[in-house]
Amino acid sequence: MVRKAVLPVAGWGTRFLPATKAMPKEMFPIIDKPVVQFIVEECLHAGVENIIFVTGRHKRPIEHHFDINTDLEKHLEQGGKDELLANIREFSRLTNPIYIRQKEQLGLGHAVLVSEPVVGNEPFVVALGDVIIDGEENVIRRMIEIHERFGKSVVAVFEVDRKKVSKYGIVSGKFIEEDVYLIDDLVEKPKEEEAPSNLAIVGRYLFTPKIFEKLKITPVGKGGEIQLTDAIKLMLEDEVVYSIKVNAKVYDTGTPIGYLMTLVEFALERKDIKDEFLEFLEHTVSRYNQRTGKA
Ligand code: UTP
Repeated sequence: MVRKAVLPVAGWGTRFLPATKAMPKEMFPIIDKPVVQFIVEECLHAGVENIIFVTGRHKRPIEHHFDINTDLEKHLEQGGKDELLANIREFSRLTNPIYIRQKEQLGLGHAVLVSEPVVGNEPFVVALGDVIIDGEENVIRRMIEIHERFGKSVVAVFEVDRKKVSKYGIVSGKFIEEDVYLIDDLVEKPKEEEAPSNLAIVGRYLFTPKIFEKLKITPVGKGGEIQLTDAIKLMLEDEVVYSIKVNAKVYDTGTPIGYLMTLVEFALERKDIKDEFLEFLEHTVSRYNQRTGKA
């Protein structure tokens, strides 16, 4: 049974400075819900209720967000804001958060290793705190199903444009069944001509505890950090690792452009603001085109 999810949220967020100097990028709002709440909800919908945040000293707002705020609840109650109250109440009581500090930001692989004393000797999910997956099926649930059938680690991948492979960890594998592969190779940020496929790692993983053993011997890699992909590569020497292809939209909110695109797409899905926002967008684009002579 998979009961625990590790959410690494301790990174510096340098691609989003100065906004991330005092505010975690995982708390940036997608309209009115912080990014990390989407990820926690994905875990909860998959039946994983023990959420282990690997956090850092500049990430306190995340802890406050998942706590019960009785003053706010009282305020909403007195103001008769029943719907908001129900929403806030339900969410803060659903999660069972556990916080563990990554004292030095030595990379994603290191952040996962820091969670070992809490995870222990059982399979667990890793979900990146700044990647939202929006699709019909719950990716974490699907990964758990594959793990329950085969008993091994599972990495979620999605198809990217071949021109963009150099931004991702790319896997190649042997076909097992529709959308399920056995990984035979894994390359971090390959050149277009050297990429073994266009299947990129998305930020959702399910590991057997063997990964901890491998993380402990993973040498410092790209960017002077302990890379999770390097540890998965080491894993392949001892254990098979599956990959599942995700048919969903993947939003990397950790960069200004990725965040902006996420905002626009989610705004266009929101019944309460869509019409006004669309009108604004059309108007803005048309004015821009006129000004720049593109129309
Ligand atoms: P990123 O690759 O987005 O790294 O990490 P980052 O350091 O946060 O961002 P940049 O590159 O400086 O802009 C993916 C996830 O892993 C966490 C981040 O918080 C993010 O949610 N992470 C990364 C850690 O928890 N610890 C680390 O040492 C590095």
